Amino acid sequence: MRLEQVLFSQGFGTRHECRGLISLGRVTFEGNTVTDPDEDVDPVGRSFTVDGRSWPYYEKALVLLNKPENYECSQKPIHHPSVMTLLPPPLRVRGLQPVGRLDADTTGLLLLTDDGALQHRLTHPKRHVPKRYRVTCKHAAADSLIEALLEGVKLVDERDVLRAQDVERIDDKVLEMTITSGKYHQVKRMIAAGGNRVEALERVRFGHLALPEALARGEWLWLEGPQAVLGTK
Ligand code: URA
Repeated sequence: MRLEQVLFSQGFGTRHECRGLISLGRVTFEGNTVTDPDEDVDPVGRSFTVDGRSWPYYEKALVLLNKPENYECSQKPIHHPSVMTLLPPPLRVRGLQPVGRLDADTTGLLLLTDDGALQHRLTHPKRHVPKRYRVTCKHAAADSLIEALLEGVKLVDERDVLRAQDVERIDDKVLEMTITSGKYHQVKRMIAAGGNRVEALERVRFGHLALPEALARGEWLWLEGPQAVLGTK
């Protein structure tokens, strides 16, 4: 693959801009400055640098962001900045999109990818990919709330009863619960249907992938591929 194509595919601008970066000596590949945009390289499993910053090559990108409060997952945010502003420009240019949505006030594990097939696989209702949330309730979480979540609650405008796959009491007001669907405000509405109210919501797991404790809010990291989330190739 020509080095110009590598940079273009990874979101470093137009083909013309990528050629310029290379010609100006701003790009290294495998530790060597390459000034010929047409140089043939094999990028798979390798890294390059642009202006000294290292970038792994991924044909398709999958990243995990620890979403802070007051960021919107929408492409056209209204009240807060988009989560996309937390990613470096090349990831935005190559068209990463959030995998599903978290509310503006929800924090935690948000995946973003430019892999359309993976996006579909992770969000399609029939796939039932489990998502785990840490829920801080306004009032102490009664046994009746936990029972209701496990048995299933009927929400306005939803045809099916929605139930949690599991619920764990962490302390008086804090629960962790896993759901396998992704309806609008689902956790908040389920908790409300059980007679309580969500004060804070954090996603702590998506499929097989747990939110890494060392990843600060607003920070992101590369994932090696879908198996990090799905547990299989
Ligand atoms: N359920 C909600 O209510 N909000 C979220 O952001 C995610 C799940």
